[in-house]
Amino acid sequence: MTAQLIDGNAIARQLRADVARRTAALKAKGITPGLAVILVGEDPASQVYVGKKVQACAEAGLHSVLEKYDATLSEADLLARVQALNADPAIHGILVQLPLPAHIDAHKVIEAIAPTKDVDGFHIASAGALMTGMPGFWSCTPYGCIKLLESTGIELRGKHAVVIGRSNNVGKPMALMLLQKNATVTICHSATRNLKAHTLQADVIVAAVGKPNTLTADMVKPGAVVIDVGMNRNAQGKLCGDVDFAGVREVAGWITPVPGGVGPMTVTMLLVNTLEAAERGLP
Ligand code: GUN
Repeated sequence: MTAQLIDGNAIARQLRADVARRTAALKAKGITPGLAVILVGEDPASQVYVGKKVQACAEAGLHSVLEKYDATLSEADLLARVQALNADPAIHGILVQLPLPAHIDAHKVIEAIAPTKDVDGFHIASAGALMTGMPGFWSCTPYGCIKLLESTGIELRGKHAVVIGRSNNVGKPMALMLLQKNATVTICHSATRNLKAHTLQADVIVAAVGKPNTLTADMVKPGAVVIDVGMNRNAQGKLCGDVDFAGVREVAGWITPVPGGVGPMTVTMLLVNTLEAAERGLP
């Protein structure tokens, strides 16, 4: 069997077109969804990411502001900027790009963002809302994975999902989202014994480890859905995920490629969350 490809670019395009339509409708009522992106320092990867976020906003008709600060910005000054944006009615979403310079406590900064504007879904209030099934913002990468899974038409209810990785930004929220969708969820991590014994039981596998070839064909049940969150460089310098794509695609039922799978979904879900933050402000 050769797996069907889950085309993240195509799904992201459809979702962004929907965001653009809903943004236009909101603008007709006098509200322009607005995102503030804060970048501190010169990290090259972060500069690329924030550029993509701002460009995606412009393409979908959202207002965005990019605030760039020198790496020497004090924690107090950054907290003051976050407070000012919390109070700014033109801003519905606030994103502080991570990592922050070492002298700034990232946790403190994230917690300073108003939960109603936490479109990254990183605030403890957002994590708590996800855990308890209350309304809030779902963090963008795992939320994007849910959209990719839903695009297959496969019902998650009652399925066994195995998440490999337990990061705060992907693994843990991913597991909670799958649980919310009524899957039976196993979380595997670096201390898991016999990973293969777990993944072979899975109807759905989400690999979010950051290590190439974490999941190989012998570890996958025929027909399983495989979502690859990894973004690595292999020995030849080529972009690759956590999954041995060439091998696993011969066993899986569905699979995401890298690039072109989860990647385009993260920024897309940021647009969705920002739009929804603005929509929630409606009377
Ligand atoms: N750094 C890498 N990815 C992300 C992300 O999704 N959000 C933020 N705020 N920082 C990041």
